[in-house]
Amino acid sequence: MDLLTSIREEAKEKNGKIVLPESNDERVLEAAFKLKKKNIATPILVSDDNNINDKIRTMNINLDDVPIYSPDDFNGFDDFIETYYQKRQHKDITKEEAETRMRDRNFFGTMLVEKGLADGCLSGADTPTGEVLRPALHILGTAEGVQTVSSDMLMIINPQQENEKVISFADCAVMPDPDEKQVAEIAMATAQTHQTLVQEKPKIAMLSFSTKGSAKHEKATKMQKATEIVREESDFCVDGELQADAAIDKTVAQKKAPESPLKGEANVLIFPELQAGNIGYKLVQRIGGVEAVGPIIQGLSKPMNDLSRGCSVDDIINVAAILCNLK
Ligand code: ACO
Repeated sequence: MDLLTSIREEAKEKNGKIVLPESNDERVLEAAFKLKKKNIATPILVSDDNNINDKIRTMNINLDDVPIYSPDDFNGFDDFIETYYQKRQHKDITKEEAETRMRDRNFFGTMLVEKGLADGCLSGADTPTGEVLRPALHILGTAEGVQTVSSDMLMIINPQQENEKVISFADCAVMPDPDEKQVAEIAMATAQTHQTLVQEKPKIAMLSFSTKGSAKHEKATKMQKATEIVREESDFCVDGELQADAAIDKTVAQKKAPESPLKGEANVLIFPELQAGNIGYKLVQRIGGVEAVGPIIQGLSKPMNDLSRGCSVDDIINVAAILCNLK
C-alpha cells in the first residue's frame, strides 16, 4: 500500500481529535467535512464568526456534528488565559497580553491541545509558518529531553505507484541557523519520524557542498562534527559530510565515498541550515514533480503541525492523518 493511503488507514484506528483553527478558509471546512465523513479523524473548528454556519450551508457540506469553539463564549477561557500567563511569566507578560494571545485562533487552538481537549492542532493554510510555530513553542514547549524543535518534509517520489519511494528532508521549515549540536538533534529526530511514518530503517546523510573533506571550510566542518555527534548519541546509520549526489546516487557514492555505509542509498537528508533545506525541497517539488508532505513538526511535547499556504484539501487531510498517527 502507498504511504499516504496507509497513513490514512492507520489514522482511522487512532480516532484522533484534531483542531483546525482556520475555519475562515473554505479548504479547511471541506477538509473537516471529509475527515469526519471518511472517519479519518474527529475535527474541531475554531471560529468567532457569527455567520460561519451560513457559510457552511452555502458550501453544501454538513458539519452538524463538528464542534465549533469560539474564544468569545468558551467555558474554560479564563483558565486558558491564566495558563498562558503562567507559562510566559519569564517574559513578564501582563494578563491583558495573555488574553489578547488567547483570542488569537492559533493560540486558542493550541491551548485546546495543551488542555487535552484535542490530540493535535493543524494550521497554516492561511497563516505563515512563524505564526503557527510560535503558539506551539509558547504553549506546548519541547518534549522531555528535546532542545530543538524542527521539521521533517516527506518527499514522495512516484507517489502511489509501485516504485514509490520516500525521502525525508530536514530541516526545511523551523530552525534558521542551527549549530552542529542542533543539526545533530534535527538528524536524530528526523530519523525517528521517518522510522515511525515510513516504517523503514533510516539512513541519514549529513549534507554539505563537500564530500569527506573534499573542500575545507568551516561550514563543511560543522556537518562533520554534527555527524560525529549523531554517531556518539544514537545507533542510526549515518554518514557525512556528503554532497547530495554522493548521498543518493550509488555510482557517485562509489566514486566519491566508497567507504560510506550509506552506499548512495540515503533516505534521510539533513541540510546544514534552513535556507538550503527550504530552497532544496521547493526545487525538488516544483522541478522534480515530487510530492512534498509536511512540514511535520517534531520535538514538541504534543502534536501540532504546519501547512503550506498553497495546500489543497487533500494535503490538509493527509497531514491531519499524520498527526493522528503521532498522537
Ligand atoms: N526549538 C526549541 N525552542 C525554540 C525554537 C526551536 N527551534 N525556536 C525558538 N525557540 C524558543 C525561543 O527560545 C523562545 O523561548 P522563550 O521565549 O520561552 O524564552 C520560544 O521558543 C519562542 O520564542 P519567540 O521569541 O516567540 O519566537 P522566535 O522569535 O524564537 O521564533 C520561530 C521562532 C517562529 C520558529 C522562528 O525561528 C522562525 O520564524 N522560523 C522560520 C519559520 C519559517 O518562516 N519557515 C519557512 C517557511 S515554512 C515552509 O516553506 C514549509
